Amino acid sequence: MKGQGSANGSDGSGGYDLVVVANRLPVDFSVDADGEVDWQRSPGGLVSALEPVMQENDGAWVGWSGAPDLAHEPFEADGMMLVPVTLSASEIRKYYEGFSNDTLWPLYHDVIAPPTYHRQWWEAYRRVNQRFADAAAAQAAHGGVVWVHDYQLQLVPKILRDLRPDLRIGFFDHIPFPPVELFQQLPWRRSILEGLLGADLVGFQRGGDASNFVRAVRRLTDHPTRGSVVSMDSDDGSPGRRVRAAAFPISIDTAKFDELARSPEVQARAKEVRADLGDPDVVMLGVDRLDYTKGIRHRIKAYGEILQDGRIEAANTTLVQVASPSRENVGAYQELREHVESLVGRLNGEFGEIGHSAIHYLHHSYPPEEMAALYLAADVMLVTSLRDGMNLVAKEYIAARSDLGGVLVLSEFTGAADELAPGPLLVNPHDIDGMKDIIVTAAHMDPKEKRRRMRRLRRKVMGDDVAKWSKSFLGVLTAMPTRDTHV
Ligand code: F6P
Repeated sequence: MKGQGSANGSDGSGGYDLVVVANRLPVDFSVDADGEVDWQRSPGGLVSALEPVMQENDGAWVGWSGAPDLAHEPFEADGMMLVPVTLSASEIRKYYEGFSNDTLWPLYHDVIAPPTYHRQWWEAYRRVNQRFADAAAAQAAHGGVVWVHDYQLQLVPKILRDLRPDLRIGFFDHIPFPPVELFQQLPWRRSILEGLLGADLVGFQRGGDASNFVRAVRRLTDHPTRGSVVSMDSDDGSPGRRVRAAAFPISIDTAKFDELARSPEVQARAKEVRADLGDPDVVMLGVDRLDYTKGIRHRIKAYGEILQDGRIEAANTTLVQVASPSRENVGAYQELREHVESLVGRLNGEFGEIGHSAIHYLHHSYPPEEMAALYLAADVMLVTSLRDGMNLVAKEYIAARSDLGGVLVLSEFTGAADELAPGPLLVNPHDIDGMKDIIVTAAHMDPKEKRRRMRRLRRKVMGDDVAKWSKSFLGVLTAMPTRDTHV
C-alpha cells in the first residue's frame, strides 16, 4: 500500500487517494494495566459504507480515538490506514463537549436546548480543526479526494484547501443545517460558512438543509450564488472555483440488516423477548441515543396519557425504550436523563403490576443482533424526534421487517420523513393529542394495512443502501471540474 501511514511530501507525493476525515475513528481504543493500547473495530454505519471504497481506492481515515491524550502512530486495519488525532482532556471539554455538542448541536437542531456561545470553546474548535486538516494534508496523495464529515469539522475544508489546493474536497453534514434566522445567532457564522466553502461539494441529508446553507451564504457572505452553486472569487479577479450544495440522504447497510433479522437465532431471540415481556398484545419500541432532540419525553408523555385514558389497556401493552448513553458530561444531557428517568418511574409506579412494567427502560447500547430481535418483537416503532438529520433507526426497523409486520410512527421533523412518506404514520411530536391518536391507530392497525404500508416502505429503503449513498456522493465529487478548470 502506498504511503504506509508516513507523512507525504508537501505536494502529496506518496499518500492515499481517498482520505476520510471524521471526528471519530471507526475503532474503540482501550489502555490496559501496563499502559498498552488496544483497539477493537466499532461497527458504525459510516465505516460499513466507506470500507469497500476505501479498500478499492487506497484509503486512509483520520479521526479521534475517543480517549484523552492518546497519541498513536497510524496503523492498518482491514485494508484501511487509520490515522489517530490526539485531543487533550481540555480539548475534549471545549471542542467536543463544548463547541460541537453544546453550541453547534443545539443550534443546528432548532435550538431545542439553548446553545452556549463561549469564545474559548471556539478557539479550541479552530485549533482542533486545524489539527485534523494538517493530518489529512499529510496523508492525501497529489490530486486525491478528501471527504470530511459532520459538524465537528466544518473548518477543515477551507484550511485544507489553503494547504493543498490540488485536492478535491467533499464535505457531508450528517445533521440538519438550520434556517439562517437561527444560524445567524452564531458569533462565528461567517468563518463556519467560509470553512465549508473550502469544499467543492457540500452534501446534506435533505434538500431543505442544502437550501438553508445556500440562503445563509447569500445573506451572510459576498459570494454570488446561482441555484445551488456558489461562486468563489479568485485573488486575481479571474473567475474562481464553484462550490455545489446538494442533498444525499444517507442510508444503512440494508441487505445486512435484512439478513440478520431473517436468521433463526434472531427470530428465536425476538420470540424470547416477547415472552420475557409477558407476551403483551402490543409491544411498542423506542430506540435512541439519550438526546433531547429525540423527543423521548414527548413520546412517554403521550404513551402515559393513552394508558391513563384507557384507550389502550395497560395490562396488555408495554413500551420498550432503549436509550443509549451519550455525551454524559454535557449538562443538557444530564438534565434530560433525570427527567426521562423520573417520567419512567412515575409511569411504572402508576401502571405497573407485579410481573408487568408499563415501560422497560434500558440505558444501554446493544449489538446489531439484539437490535434486530427487538425490531422484530415490536408491533409499533416510535420515532418521535423533535429534529433529526435523517434517523437511521427508522430505516433499520424497515430493513428488519421482511415479515411485513410492524407499524412505523415517524416524526415529520426527521430527514427520513422527507424520503419515506407516505408509508409511515407521520406525527408532530409537539402535538401530544395528535400523536396519541396516531399511536392508538398504529396499535390497532389491521394486518393487511400494516403489510401494505411496510411493503411500500421496504420498496423505498431496500434499494437505497449506504454503499449507494457513498458511491453517489463520491461520483458527483469526482466528476466536478478540478480547481484550475473554469466553468
Ligand atoms: O448524528 C451525528 C453524530 O455525530 C453521529 O455521526 C454519531 O453516531 C452520533 O452523532 C453520536 O455522536 P458522538 O460522537 O458525540 O457520540
